Amino acid sequence: MNPQRHQALKDTAPVFSIALVLACGPSMVEDLEVELLESERLSSDAVSGVVALSDLGMLVSSQEGLELRHPLSSQGTWVWDRPGELWSAVRSQELGLVVSTEHGLLAGHGLLGPSPLQDQLNEVGRVFAAGDGLVLETSEGVHAWRAGELFAFNDFAAPIATSGDGEIYLQQAKHRVHFVRSGVGWAELDRETDRALGRGLDGKGVLWTLGDKELTRSDGLRWRLPTEALSLHVCAQNSGAWVADDHGSAWFFDTQVRVRAEVPADAVLDGQCRWLVADSQGLERLSWARPVALWGLGEGEQLLGDTPIVVLPTLPALVESVLLSVNGETQALVDDGWVLELADWPAGGTMEVVVRYQDNVTSTLQRTFEVGDAGQPTWSEDLSLLYKDHCALCHTNGTETVLAEAQDWEDNIETILTSVSSGTMPLGKAPLTGAQIATIRAWRDGGFE
Ligand code: HEC
Repeated sequence: MNPQRHQALKDTAPVFSIALVLACGPSMVEDLEVELLESERLSSDAVSGVVALSDLGMLVSSQEGLELRHPLSSQGTWVWDRPGELWSAVRSQELGLVVSTEHGLLAGHGLLGPSPLQDQLNEVGRVFAAGDGLVLETSEGVHAWRAGELFAFNDFAAPIATSGDGEIYLQQAKHRVHFVRSGVGWAELDRETDRALGRGLDGKGVLWTLGDKELTRSDGLRWRLPTEALSLHVCAQNSGAWVADDHGSAWFFDTQVRVRAEVPADAVLDGQCRWLVADSQGLERLSWARPVALWGLGEGEQLLGDTPIVVLPTLPALVESVLLSVNGETQALVDDGWVLELADWPAGGTMEVVVRYQDNVTSTLQRTFEVGDAGQPTWSEDLSLLYKDHCALCHTNGTETVLAEAQDWEDNIETILTSVSSGTMPLGKAPLTGAQIATIRAWRDGGFE
């Protein structure tokens, strides 16, 4: 670039950015009427805490201990038999389910036990998945863990947010924000100087930042907020965020402010933007606009052919019909379980779900997808590794159901597929992903190579 032109650009740049700020200042949040959220009772046994997991399941704590509830199985799985306060839970590729409780940090493929990190850390509050590692809020500050190594990020404090795929996290300290990514080591990508009370990435990749009086989206939308003392709750699997104040009011935003509602102080948000309320009456779910979820296909996830897709509507008891189309063509669903099993997947496109309710309300969900080439899975390259990582702990020789060899899998294949699809196996562990289940099915269909 010639130096004169460079100089000219430098001179005009600040003028341009001032004009931009004036043109799109924050819009005021209007004084909305409080609307009632719809309530669903998920269980009526007393519960003391709940954490939503990224795969749409949840971990529930009660007098009996910790139970993992998968949306596709009617029965939960007990993962820890001591009652205690539940703070946070995530899935880690290396450690399995990682749960932070008042008893310390629990982790483990298979049944949970004290985490290998526990001896090295004092009290751990929230835990976040970041790439193939973890980020932990501890009483001594922020720590990161990856591939067996624990590091301290000195002088940094909460809040932290990780992206949906766990690749990036952000942390705020004093008045600085660091964007850090795991995988290539921990590197600072960017910094800002504005103070933030909360941050988070929603399921569409939009970064939400809550400042003292303002809510901003990374695409430039901004709002001036009606009250102070607010907290931010970002919807991890679809678009949007709730902002809550200390007096029980919460506002839902996506590209505009949509609703104001009353929400109990200790409610937690699930990935679909619904509130989970745990109390002595059981577990209740509060929702607005009845969001639909899909199991088996996450936003931006590559679909392996033969993966069953399951529609999970809010308020299932009121559903009249579910219509699922792929690239505009309506598909037949199996059973009343709203399951799609397509034999011939197109290379990619858009999936649309329309749920119609008895009271004429409809909910829709759109998702773009791409179908990956799974190749033909084999025992030695695929199945034996899956066995080693997810089942070997409990199904080696000498146990009741031995699954150590290809022949054992072949003999038990239908039971295996039922138990992994329903989430009952692997016992006490995060369920297998849709792609892993598709691999098992493809191995069967390919003649157990
Ligand atoms: C933490 C322990 C644990 C893990 C991990 C685990 N299972 Fe199991 N599984 C059990 C127990 C306990 C039983 C019941 C006793 C038995 O059949 O061995 C069981 C039973 C089964 C059964 C028989 C179910 C029936 O209805 O007869 C199958 C099939 C099975 N598991 C498959 C798997 C597969 C596949 C994996 C890995 C993806 C897995 N399990 C991981 C503990 C585990």
